Amino acid sequence: MPVLGLGTWRMGEQARGRANEVAALRLGLDLGMTLIDTAEMYGDGSAEEVVGEAIDGRRDEVFLVSKVYPHNASRKGVIAACERSLKRLATDRLDLYLLHWRGRVPLRETVAGFEALRGSGQIRAWGVSNFDVKDMEELLALPSGDQCAANQVQYHLRCRGIEWDLLPLCRRRRIAIMAYSPLDEGRLMKHRQLLTIAQRERVAPATIALAWLLVQQGVAVIPKAADAAHVQDNKNATDFALSEHLTQELDAVFPPPHGPVPLQVI
Ligand SMILES: NC(=O)c1ccc[n+]([C@@H]2O[C@H](COP(=O)([O-])OP(=O)(O)OC[C@H]3O[C@@H](n4cnc5c(N)ncnc54)[C@H](OP(=O)(O)O)[C@@H]3O)[C@@H](O)[C@H]2O)c1
Repeated sequence: MPVLGLGTWRMGEQARGRANEVAALRLGLDLGMTLIDTAEMYGDGSAEEVVGEAIDGRRDEVFLVSKVYPHNASRKGVIAACERSLKRLATDRLDLYLLHWRGRVPLRETVAGFEALRGSGQIRAWGVSNFDVKDMEELLALPSGDQCAANQVQYHLRCRGIEWDLLPLCRRRRIAIMAYSPLDEGRLMKHRQLLTIAQRERVAPATIALAWLLVQQGVAVIPKAADAAHVQDNKNATDFALSEHLTQELDAVFPPPHGPVPLQVI
């Protein structure tokens, strides 16, 4: 899985933003941010349509991720939802399909649906999102539960609770963590101390926030940007070398957890 990608939450919600959103996603692909993360929920399917337009003619360049609503995640429901997503995305396969969050459908059923989709080639791999340690343990104990490839959770400088237990668990089980809202939905760019550090380093604050995530082992990062300049700042994170001194400075401003912290979900 590519380690730096493109989020799409809030894309496709307004017709007048669509051309910019498609252009931002294409720019991201041009710059090598080849993972695109979307969901049937985003814009009620409209975000998937925006992605479909952006990847038209370049499907093979993209690692494509979408998510199923919990209420669609029964064995049959997950297959039908995936087929609707594939249609909106104008493709015949997903590289990764995630359960968006845990709902009332027994996990065993969802896993059976995911495995059927894997068998038919409509998805290459499956995973979950917003699963805490207990959820992961329950999942991993199920038949084929150990086939889970990823857990997408909130993770950024101001939200480091997963470092205590969830991140080590996922690393041990070779399950990728996908860091969502890596810029704290844009709020990190207003953080006074981060702004001061970024000014000194002569880069955008987003570049530092994402570079810090990119050095965390086993973590993929999916910032959302509809603005072309933002896409470029985000890509710059791959070229920004975090010094030991800067890492310590960030740890002082944004301390790691000192004990278990409930998973923070948006
Ligand atoms: N699984 C889940 O439950 C879940 C939950 C939340 C998010 N996600 C996924 O994770 C993705 C990212 O999270 P997110 O969209 O919540 O928040 P985010 O990526 O942390 O932040 C997005 C916001 O930051 C702005 N931004 C992006 N790059 C910037 C830059 N370089 N400088 C200044 N501002 C910048 C964007 O503005 P512009 O758009 O104007 O450029 C947008 O307002 C989502 O899009 C979605 O795919 C998943």
